[in-house]
Amino acid sequence: MSTRSSDRYGPSSPDRVRREPFGTTADGRSVERFTLTSSGGVTISVLSFGGVIQRILVPDRDGTRADVTLGYDTLPEYEKDKSYLGALVGRYANRIRGGRFSLDGREYTLAQNAGGNSLHGGARGFNKVVWSVEPFEEGSDVGLVLQHVSPDGDEGYPGTLRVRVTYRLTTDGALVIDFFATTDAATPVNLTQHAYFNLARTGSGDILGHLLELGASRFTPVDASLIPTGELRRVQGTPFDFSTAETVGARIGADDEQLRLAGGYDHNFVIDRQGATDLALAARLTDPVSARGVDIHTTEPGIQFYTGNFLDGTVKGKGGVPHRYRSGLALETQHFPNSPNEPSFPSTILRPGEEHRSRTVYHFVVRD
Ligand code: GLA
Repeated sequence: MSTRSSDRYGPSSPDRVRREPFGTTADGRSVERFTLTSSGGVTISVLSFGGVIQRILVPDRDGTRADVTLGYDTLPEYEKDKSYLGALVGRYANRIRGGRFSLDGREYTLAQNAGGNSLHGGARGFNKVVWSVEPFEEGSDVGLVLQHVSPDGDEGYPGTLRVRVTYRLTTDGALVIDFFATTDAATPVNLTQHAYFNLARTGSGDILGHLLELGASRFTPVDASLIPTGELRRVQGTPFDFSTAETVGARIGADDEQLRLAGGYDHNFVIDRQGATDLALAARLTDPVSARGVDIHTTEPGIQFYTGNFLDGTVKGKGGVPHRYRSGLALETQHFPNSPNEPSFPSTILRPGEEHRSRTVYHFVVRD
């Protein structure tokens, strides 16, 4: 198969892309790390294992760079990770009720790896595979093409799924993530990037003081197992209203059934958009102290806002610092959870002859 990297992009120069070994998995797969540097001051490191974004260095208002994403220093820690830190998630990001769905009259059973539901692709999702990775340069941008073939029956999903993800870093501090997939049999597909942000610096404390704005006037309330009920509920007048910037912590302890069910925010928001496929503003996150910010635009209909409620300080991250409760937050652009069992939600079914395409942009900025 020809990789688009060789067709479309020029070869990469070593000063803007560093490629180095990152160890060997317990079952003997070699892993590499790629570090991309943009002239605008943003540096990201990506592993071929899980397509993980291991490090994101971003300047603050004084130009001081800090690593704003949670992660680990070594490969064995990523192999053990259960929090999807920085990883690519698939085939189906988020939950599928009971690990079951039916498609074209056939029943499919998936691994039930989260309280009776299937979560983030199952027992061995795309976050645990070694992707084939090639760097590229295109004009002043620098990037990576990651590819993976998920075999028919993988984790219970039908069809051979060919997935391609590109990470492209622009000079003005944007990380453009493109997802593509094709299949030879109908299958659900929902791909996302599961970076956790702490814009003050990973390891520096909790994210409750971050300011968040979401481009969403509705969200999908959940049941006790975090499966959406099917309702699209207005956020107005609830702790879920981030239509104007509010700190993450301002209402997280409010007496609210939805916050109680999830132990904080762990909900999918319905992005307000003009057209079905335009790049719409999903989230604007700011650390008011450092003035570091990230604006997230996406073609996806939803975004999961998760406040790290399952992080409990028992697992150590980079520099040996524990990943404490709410020390990072994830903003996962996606289709809605459990869509294969919820006909009223936008479809996640990919069929032979179609191409799944989706774009998410993280634009790192210094906020005035
Ligand atoms: C997503 C889910 C959370 C949790 C994390 C990973 O954000 O919505 O419930 O599973 O992934 O720990």
